[in-house]
Amino acid sequence: MLSSTEQLKEKAIMVGVQIKREARQDLTLDASLQELELLAETAGIEVVGSVIQNLDNPNSRTYIGKGKLEELILLAEELNAKTILFDDELSPRHQRELEKEFTIDTKILDRTALILDIFAQHADTREGMLQVELAQYKYRLPRLTRAWTHLARQTGGASGRSGGVGGVGLRGPGETQLEVDRREIKRRITKLEDDLEKVREHRNRHRNQRRKTNIPVVALVGYTNAGKSTLLNSLTDANIYVADQLFATLDPTTRQLELPAGETVLLTDTVGFIQKLPTDLVAAFRATLEEITEADLLLHIIDSSHENAEQQRKTVLQTLEEIGAGEIPVINVYNKIDLLDNETLRDFERSIDPTSIFISAKEKIGFDTLIDSISAGITQSFTYVEVVLPFREGRLVSLFHEKGHVESLEHNENGVRITGRLPVELLSFFEIYME
Ligand code: GTP
Repeated sequence: MLSSTEQLKEKAIMVGVQIKREARQDLTLDASLQELELLAETAGIEVVGSVIQNLDNPNSRTYIGKGKLEELILLAEELNAKTILFDDELSPRHQRELEKEFTIDTKILDRTALILDIFAQHADTREGMLQVELAQYKYRLPRLTRAWTHLARQTGGASGRSGGVGGVGLRGPGETQLEVDRREIKRRITKLEDDLEKVREHRNRHRNQRRKTNIPVVALVGYTNAGKSTLLNSLTDANIYVADQLFATLDPTTRQLELPAGETVLLTDTVGFIQKLPTDLVAAFRATLEEITEADLLLHIIDSSHENAEQQRKTVLQTLEEIGAGEIPVINVYNKIDLLDNETLRDFERSIDPTSIFISAKEKIGFDTLIDSISAGITQSFTYVEVVLPFREGRLVSLFHEKGHVESLEHNENGVRITGRLPVELLSFFEIYME
């Protein structure tokens, strides 16, 4: 595996850019940098400073403007930081040009490279490891500028478990070391793809066997660090790794859960989502994501104590749409309520979708309600309705979208008229508005 944690325990400066015309739909720049710092910590990097810039457009060569770049170089020297960490993904060109501006022992990393590094540390099944390694090579190939020796130092040793390819390829006639390295990476990519295919075939055979048993699958999804593994542990006494780190879980872990009425479900933990996770990186984690798209029910775990809980929830919903899991019924589970005072908890309960559940995975609070909802969720049946919802009931409009299937929607003078199908247990919320 290409993990570089050992080498990365060093000082870094973060660089964040606010593009003026782009109103941020995700996190504010500030919150995004906070998250980047946590990612850095998880990878063993100490952030010692940051530089931010407002721009109309990123500079085509160096991403940030000339003056800012000079400021950054000076600050890095002053603080003895050998890692520059960009909050956004850099294009291969940006990466190349920036490397020219800094000393040879300075690493230019971006959010994606950092996430890949963390993934590399946490993957612990063969498939997970192959996936991360493949994603790392694909990310690096267009960015390979200096000869491999530099790459090995820069990213922490492609010469590790992966078979010692660092700079040892035999040169063909007229080939530069860089070309040899590129060829070697391409060869590794093909090999990894073949290996992965074999592992997948094996996994599919297992999954088909599981399907034959017809046991409903409930997948835990949520933003990284929301508490999915803790909940799975508490609910099933499964002993999977729980840590206050991002992406502690990379591989799906499935446990059996007996419900009070006697049914059994399979509960499966999944990789945590995060904003700005590039879609092709998401695609690399097919194992985990396939578990999600094939689930009968999703428990969306939300860290209620996080100041950006709502943004995180939206990021997860968007990713679920992107991977084709948007139609699967979801129960919103607000976790970590032991960290909220009573008033905040009441405000929360009033402001969000009334079917949400409040729990503490750590203190095992709210589990009875959660179990009841899981039971109801897996036997959920839908019914066709026509409603006119007054404008003040925006919450119910959102609820219809989230939990039901909207067939038509129009605004008229009395409110929003919706036709579609709703889960039977939600009818009581809509009854007074039915046509
Ligand atoms: P990823 O693997 O990154 O996706 O994280 P996860 O969602 O599986 O989170 P995990 O279960 O690893 O929990 C993250 C941190 O939150 C750990 O330090 C947990 O102890 C803590 N935590 C989880 N649930 C609760 C809770 O109900 N209350 C409190 N106070 N802390 C919790």
